[in-house]
Amino acid sequence: MIRKVCVIGWPITHSRSPLIHNFWIRKYGVQNAVYERLAVPPEDFVATLRDLASWGFIGANVTVPHKEAAFAALQFHDETAARLKAVNTVVTTPRGLEGRNTDGYGFIANLRERAPMWLPSRGPAVLIGAGGATRAIAAALESEGVPELRIVNRTRSRAEALAADLRLRHARIFEWDDAETALDGANLLVNTTTLGMKGAGEVELSLERLPGAALVTDIVYTPLETGLLRRARERRLATVDGLGMLLHQAVPGFEAWFGIRPQVTAELRALVLADMGIVES
Ligand code: ATR
Repeated sequence: MIRKVCVIGWPITHSRSPLIHNFWIRKYGVQNAVYERLAVPPEDFVATLRDLASWGFIGANVTVPHKEAAFAALQFHDETAARLKAVNTVVTTPRGLEGRNTDGYGFIANLRERAPMWLPSRGPAVLIGAGGATRAIAAALESEGVPELRIVNRTRSRAEALAADLRLRHARIFEWDDAETALDGANLLVNTTTLGMKGAGEVELSLERLPGAALVTDIVYTPLETGLLRRARERRLATVDGLGMLLHQAVPGFEAWFGIRPQVTAELRALVLADMGIVES
């Protein structure tokens, strides 16, 4: 029997999950396996999830705009998905379909790989944004022992709602216009907004007050080096781009579906970059 997995989104044409998973299927010689993309509009999402197994799928990734709907539609969740109320990975288990969330794992694994000397517990982390990605990252950083999460969002009420909803223990909300204050003594700065993407505006925050030992990272990976990362590099701060989060978040799903823990390698990174039309120097 063919083991099928898919990524479900709307739209889905730009998803690189098929590229990543089919690369690993070939690399590890997984027999009778295929990873497809499924374009599903919101009104059809719940029915799609319900019929997944009868279509031969053993699992799925779920992406924009279905992550919250997937959480609501599934009966079983792992601890992280339950906390975030959002699902990006669906796995067949003996009790039925289980929703998991690997976004925060991917974020941390990327930092571990690209900045192994950086330690989460060493100081406060500053998060710009208060969307779905911010939630996953905030929860993951808290689990890693970050002593304080400083959240800066254009719409302050969303940052407050995020901190309350996740019951973050050491969160501080900063005004958008006061973001520079949040950088004092910080150990990490993360852009979790869409700012920095081609066509969007840039994060304009001055990095002057960020300590020299701080790490700067971005979840935006088109372009690979956002304006924020470029300015951080010019200040000789350590930087990590966002592509690795996309690659690493795929690891736990592949392992759950096919029983092999795949590796994020330079070859995989180059493959995805080439698909984006980027040759890394
Ligand atoms: P997702 O769930 O995918 O993370 P989202 O919920 O739309 O996406 O969140 C987008 C984030 O980018 C939000 O924090 C948003 O700020 P608001 O809550 O104030 O909307 C932020 N964002 C998007 N465009 C922005 C802009 N031009 N300036 C500042 N923040 C912006």
